Amino acid sequence: MAKRTSQWYKDLSVYQIWPRSFCDGNGDGIGDLEGVLSKLDYIKSLGVDAIWFSPLYPSPNADYGYDIADYTDISSDYGTLELFKKVLDEAHKRGLKIIMDLVINHTSDHHKWFLESKKGPDNPYHDYYIWRKGRNGGKKPPNNWLSTFQGGAWEYVPEIDEYYLHVFAKGQPDLNMDNPKVREEVKKIIRFWLDLGVDGFREDVITFISKKEGLPNGFPLPTATGIEHYMNGPHLREYLEEFRAVQMEYDCFTVGEAPMMTPKRALKFIKEDENPVLDMMFHFQHMNADNIMTNFIRTPFRPGYLKKVYNNWQTKLYGKAWNALYVENHDQPRIISRYGSEKYRVKSGKMLAAMYICQSGTPFIYQGQEIGMTNIHLDSIDRFPDVSSVNTYALMKSLHLPEKFIMSLINYGARDNGRTPVQWSGAKNAGFTTADKPWFEVNPNYPEINVEAAEADPNSILHFYRKLLRFRKENEIVRYGDFRMLKTDRKLFAYIRRYQGQKLLVVCSFAEQEMNFRLPESEFDMNSAELVLSNYDFNQVIHNGFFTRPYETRVYLLK
Ligand code: NOJ
Repeated sequence: MAKRTSQWYKDLSVYQIWPRSFCDGNGDGIGDLEGVLSKLDYIKSLGVDAIWFSPLYPSPNADYGYDIADYTDISSDYGTLELFKKVLDEAHKRGLKIIMDLVINHTSDHHKWFLESKKGPDNPYHDYYIWRKGRNGGKKPPNNWLSTFQGGAWEYVPEIDEYYLHVFAKGQPDLNMDNPKVREEVKKIIRFWLDLGVDGFREDVITFISKKEGLPNGFPLPTATGIEHYMNGPHLREYLEEFRAVQMEYDCFTVGEAPMMTPKRALKFIKEDENPVLDMMFHFQHMNADNIMTNFIRTPFRPGYLKKVYNNWQTKLYGKAWNALYVENHDQPRIISRYGSEKYRVKSGKMLAAMYICQSGTPFIYQGQEIGMTNIHLDSIDRFPDVSSVNTYALMKSLHLPEKFIMSLINYGARDNGRTPVQWSGAKNAGFTTADKPWFEVNPNYPEINVEAAEADPNSILHFYRKLLRFRKENEIVRYGDFRMLKTDRKLFAYIRRYQGQKLLVVCSFAEQEMNFRLPESEFDMNSAELVLSNYDFNQVIHNGFFTRPYETRVYLLK
């Protein structure tokens, strides 16, 4: 297999676009590539080096683009392949790389392979998907698996008296990756986009693509029963090796989405000197500090848990593999509303930014995160477009939970929170669209929180992100230093990075109340260190420490 000439992806910062809500260029209420084109200079101005596009492909939108009907075209909602090439070209001219979403665990049920496949067992495409006869003379699904979004994981097709597997929504039939023809198709898709000039892939639920032989019953859970039989399945590494061989012909970058991943397991896939099959992985553990397993089962925020997870990933991967750093994406509610504070929005937004971007790894920033967008609060389930919100609501209703309680959980945990249109200005519809109505509601806080206002305010979260990303770019210690967490109060998170004689100290407070931070003198003299980033004016040091103000962060560099 071709080897990398350099690990260029380690120096990147990446901006994620969820196209439907980014910017509408043609006035139909839906974000699109014209809108992206008009914002490329803005994206570049943040100091990022790459854009990851959530799916832009034709899709009936059962899961807003993660149900793909054609892998080698662009959805008419967003533009055309020609327009995409222009975006790619213009991005490259600005030194921005382009990363596509590779969704190959499943297709849409509108994909031509599936339409053929469901014609019956004799069709050459039948074996592209996972079809089985039912149990009990066909009346019961083939096993007890449940989907993540929508009840049972099997859908019955009476015309052929068989069920197909979908571990996500009904409109997302799982591909049968054990079929070598399917793997060849995947390689063709990879080549198609790389030949066009894209620079890498974010690989959707990539650790689900290999299912255990025989599809045995799973351990009963409220959703996703059976997951232990397809998470990191038996042939996962082998299949990823095949894809990697193609990807390495182009020196492209890959980040795999990996639910329930642990550092120990991740090393089997991303250890740099052991034939890695991905460059890095998006794990989820740090997104569980305010919930149990799913964002809808809410707990109070647990900073102690968060720190433990970070410490674990940072230290176990250091020198062996590379971290992917994120706190938001299109599947997550807004981070300020979760681990920060809407009351201290600006302070906590900056603290959270420094908290994760100063760690070792490649940072990803999700659209709107850089201006501190927050969750939207909606009073009725009819106002939530996402399949997962709607079905979770139905599931909770079936358990006879009170409406008010259900709505509070949905409001807190819904992915829709991260999918409201980006707030560009204080104009109508936050300047997202010139249409009367955008496809999904704009957060009513847009007159205060928007890009235009943030640009004009030197103390905004936006300017802080710029400073932070520049600092990372200009200082190798942020990118390559090691990581050691300091013992502090539970609500403080402090760590030291070291690199070639330099030391960096990062202190973050998750508390509204005052906390006492003291650094042992032997570690670092804060008085002689340079304060490189902070979210308050006046940064006194007393006895090599300080009393933190609400959501305070300080970053010191010792030369
Ligand atoms: C993970 C994606 O990020 C999410 O948006 C999608 O619903 C599932 N995978 C299924 O594709």
